[in-house]
Amino acid sequence: MWKVPKFIKQSYLVFLLALLLYSSFGFSFSRTEATTSTGALGPVTPKDTIYQIVTDRFFDGDPSNNKPPGFDPTLFDDPDGNNQGNGKDLKLYQGGDFQGIIDKIPYLKNMGITAVWISAPYENRDTVIEDYQSDGSINRWTSFHGYHARNYFATNKHFGTMKDFIRLRDALHQNGIKLVIDFVSNHSSRWQNPTLNFAPEDGKLYEPDKDANGNYVFDANGEPADYNGDGKVENLLADPHNDVNGFFHGLGDRGNDTSRFGYRYKDLGSLADYSQENALVVEHLEKAAKFWKSKGIDGFRHDATLHMNPAFVKGFKDAIDSDAGGPVTHFGEFFIGRPDPKYDEYRTFPERTGVNNLDFEYFRAATNAFGNFSETMSSFGDMMIKTSNDYIYENQTVTFLDNHDVTRFRYIQPNDKPYHAALAVLMTSRGIPNIYYGTEQYLMPSDSSDIAGRMFMQTSTNFDENTTAYKVIQKLSNLRKNNEAIAYGTTEILYSTNDVLVFKRQFYDKQVIVAVNRQPDQTFTIPELDTTLPVGTYSDVLGGLLYGSSMSVNNVNGQNKISSFTLSGGEVNVWSYNPSLGTLTPRIGDVISTMGRPGNTVYIYGTGLGGSVTVKFGSTVATVVSNSDQMIEAIVPNTNPGIQNITVTKGSVTSDPFRYEVLSGDQVQVIFHVNATTNWGENIYVVGNIPELGSWDPNQSSEAMLNPNYPEWFLPVSVPKGATFEFKFIKKDNNGNVIWESRSNRVFTAPNSSTGTIDTPLYFWDN
Ligand code: NOJ
Ligand code: NOJ
Ligand code: CA
Ligand code: CA
Repeated sequence: MWKVPKFIKQSYLVFLLALLLYSSFGFSFSRTEATTSTGALGPVTPKDTIYQIVTDRFFDGDPSNNKPPGFDPTLFDDPDGNNQGNGKDLKLYQGGDFQGIIDKIPYLKNMGITAVWISAPYENRDTVIEDYQSDGSINRWTSFHGYHARNYFATNKHFGTMKDFIRLRDALHQNGIKLVIDFVSNHSSRWQNPTLNFAPEDGKLYEPDKDANGNYVFDANGEPADYNGDGKVENLLADPHNDVNGFFHGLGDRGNDTSRFGYRYKDLGSLADYSQENALVVEHLEKAAKFWKSKGIDGFRHDATLHMNPAFVKGFKDAIDSDAGGPVTHFGEFFIGRPDPKYDEYRTFPERTGVNNLDFEYFRAATNAFGNFSETMSSFGDMMIKTSNDYIYENQTVTFLDNHDVTRFRYIQPNDKPYHAALAVLMTSRGIPNIYYGTEQYLMPSDSSDIAGRMFMQTSTNFDENTTAYKVIQKLSNLRKNNEAIAYGTTEILYSTNDVLVFKRQFYDKQVIVAVNRQPDQTFTIPELDTTLPVGTYSDVLGGLLYGSSMSVNNVNGQNKISSFTLSGGEVNVWSYNPSLGTLTPRIGDVISTMGRPGNTVYIYGTGLGGSVTVKFGSTVATVVSNSDQMIEAIVPNTNPGIQNITVTKGSVTSDPFRYEVLSGDQVQVIFHVNATTNWGENIYVVGNIPELGSWDPNQSSEAMLNPNYPEWFLPVSVPKGATFEFKFIKKDNNGNVIWESRSNRVFTAPNSSTGTIDTPLYFWDN
């Protein structure tokens, strides 16, 4: 049985007191202060606007950490020796740090930014990474981006100390800005040099000293301490070149292997790929993520989710969210092209793991419609409709125009008009917008490469708060906070052509209509459009910033119509209708997290959620911890595992349901193995008597097993710890025909440790 930990109860009392104080001063309560037991603000919601910061590339607030002890100073981009990164050799460190982000909080806050995603804050490999070029020269790189983990329990000293990190967290939180950290659980660092015939490199992983109980030891400042007195504060944990504990897959580069096995088990660019089926690895990574959660962060951007075993990811996310402090944000990088044969895997990843996607589908469609004009605005509209049908939690997907791994959008679209149009559409689309740092300053890279785009903001701009792009973000982040049609609404295309798009976002009676023309120099006339908006005049939320003006709705023969209007070059109009939905009818806009076990905290967002409410998961009543008009904090009740719709009832009115998956317990991995021959087009799946195995429904079975060594198949599956369950292997073909093993059900028991993993024996398919 799950019990409320004492410290949560205590902090809840403090919270109640704070609430009382607030109300006695006549403020209405809103969640802008740290409220969870870790000091976090709570997860990023669709009302937020995220700003993506490559920490080294933003602002140098503390030159004293530019060349930390032991660091080769020639790896700092400072040819003139003034200890200031000059933004020229972008493969080297530039000097940006935690303090630099603190310094720019007013700039971020004034722009309307309510969450930042920063680089992985922990220690990275700090030695040169050499890339041999065909002309014989050598490119020298650093781990400035944070993707070469070395020790998860210490900060990257180029960015600052743990104290600096805590100051950053507090400063952000005091300004209502949530903190999301990049986190890599797929690999350590590069262990072979792909530009030098895979010559051995680093890849080593370190950990702090441990005390007698096996706990890591930190000093009063939160830095790893020399507990065993050997003069070092770290110990080698794992080395891919001498992998005694099986920490790594060690299969070498993926090359052109496009199988699911290749993506998940082989190296991504020679980065030492963790064996996430190994309990030691699971334990270490879960410990690392919980360590950072305990520092009061609000969420994780998970690197390389395409390359990870989804059973691991599901258990990882569950372990993080089940730890003290409640659910945090999880979105990950399932990198796909468009179109991509992996689309279905990508599309279903959030409901399979609980980790949302960065919306690569949206990104490509936006690039094509607003960037290179290779697709029409109508097809951009089609993408919006298709994805809102395809994605279960479309408002939780994280949308973007570009990021650190792709060409800067400005390079693709140097014309302000379509550039601004894209930004305005991003800010009003379903999902949570992520703005790549410098977008608001029109940062223009020297070429189309990702590295050229990772410019040093400090030497490239003057942080001008008066640019049009800055103001577009400011105005629309504000609208996003205030009109739930944007945060929680549906999407409908009202009108589209090759160059023009008119779409509507709607949450019950609330509506936002966006009308946009991507062509800089052409004017288009939009015909009269049917609407459910009341008769009246609607002003442009952007106040004419992108040439928009007001719109009028008239009644024509009993039907309300938006009068015909024109869109001049680059014109964007945002019309908002934002009536109160009242406090009597509960309406759910979103739920975070969407997957968890009995006892977990869940946040239900929407309107009319204050007062006396009953929350149910299916037909089971949940405990309400606190609630206000806009949010309920509840506890997942002890109920049947599987999909249990959440509803909120107030008086005699019940909200629309919201899909939630109740897990039957702490998740661990069972790695199934079977030897089975199949006909062309057939795959092997596992199905069984627990929801994680589809409750015997072949349509809800595991994903297809992997077969790098056909006719042997294997697949890690996330199941509740300690569960004894029945299962069978099945064959399915492309048409969904199912062949069952014709034998009695097989039985297996999952490991009892919460980070456990276990291999089944190699079974043989039974005809
Ligand atoms: C994706 C990251 O975003 C990218 O920049 C990085 O190099 C790889 N994952 C490997 O961590
Ligand atoms: C259908 C399967 O055919 C069988 O093997 C299994 O035992 C039952 N479902 C369980 O109800
Ligand atoms: Ca610095
Ligand atoms: Ca992997």
